[in-house]
Amino acid sequence: MEIIIQVDAESATAIAAEMIVRLLREKPNAVLGLATGSTPLRLYRSLVHKKLDWRKVTTFNLDEYLGLPKTHPGSYYHFMWDNLFRHLNISPKNVHVPDGMPKDAMKFCAKYEQQIVAAGGIDLQVLGVGGDGHIGFNEPTSSLTSRTRIKTLTPETRKDNARFFDGMDRVPHHVITMGLGTIMEARQCVLLAFGSKKARAVAATIEGPITANVPASILQMHPNTKVCLDKGAAAKLKRADYYHWVFENKPRWEAA
Ligand code: GLP
Repeated sequence: MEIIIQVDAESATAIAAEMIVRLLREKPNAVLGLATGSTPLRLYRSLVHKKLDWRKVTTFNLDEYLGLPKTHPGSYYHFMWDNLFRHLNISPKNVHVPDGMPKDAMKFCAKYEQQIVAAGGIDLQVLGVGGDGHIGFNEPTSSLTSRTRIKTLTPETRKDNARFFDGMDRVPHHVITMGLGTIMEARQCVLLAFGSKKARAVAATIEGPITANVPASILQMHPNTKVCLDKGAAAKLKRADYYHWVFENKPRWEAA
């Protein structure tokens, strides 16, 4: 893991945006894994303003609420089209968001995995992190090798996400999410976290033991993951000075 601590969310986001710009310029038919939530919004806004060609890009979103149609304003399908896809020249057939209303959810999940493989695998996976350390909707105690499947949200996550719905009662209990094993197969990951509310989860993810109780901690086993943080999210890191030093003193061959 490479830990990059910036003064604010704006500059931490700029690093992730640059990774995507570089990838799309080097590989116009890249496969991106995308996340929802408030954390990646700045990233999506910034990507919209870059002059990039998305015609050959394929995307796979991490997750979706079960039982919500695409038209529901709380659905991740709606979120992604509203905040990103409609502003790009991406081809709708290359966009994949798990179906919130599948006829056969198990079959759908297996097909989603096959589609990722058929597309050549994910080149770069964007991630946020929940206050309990979840990535995608892989809640604590998720199997560290899990694949795309149905999960049940914890009360904490339903409460956190209630702001996107008209009240807590309307937040679905069930979701479809890529598994931790699916995420781990991405060639590169970038995890973004901003604000002191994320500090505890971030410290556990980076400096705690690898445990299903903090699902994001599995990223310690990933060969190419960058974690881009603002000061607030980095506040509980014990080795922050070291991470700063590493970032500011990269050997020339690595800094390029
Ligand atoms: C949801 C999403 C996650 C996201 C998390 C954090 O649970 N499924 O992918 O990382 O929310 O959301 P936020 O960025 O709003 O803090």
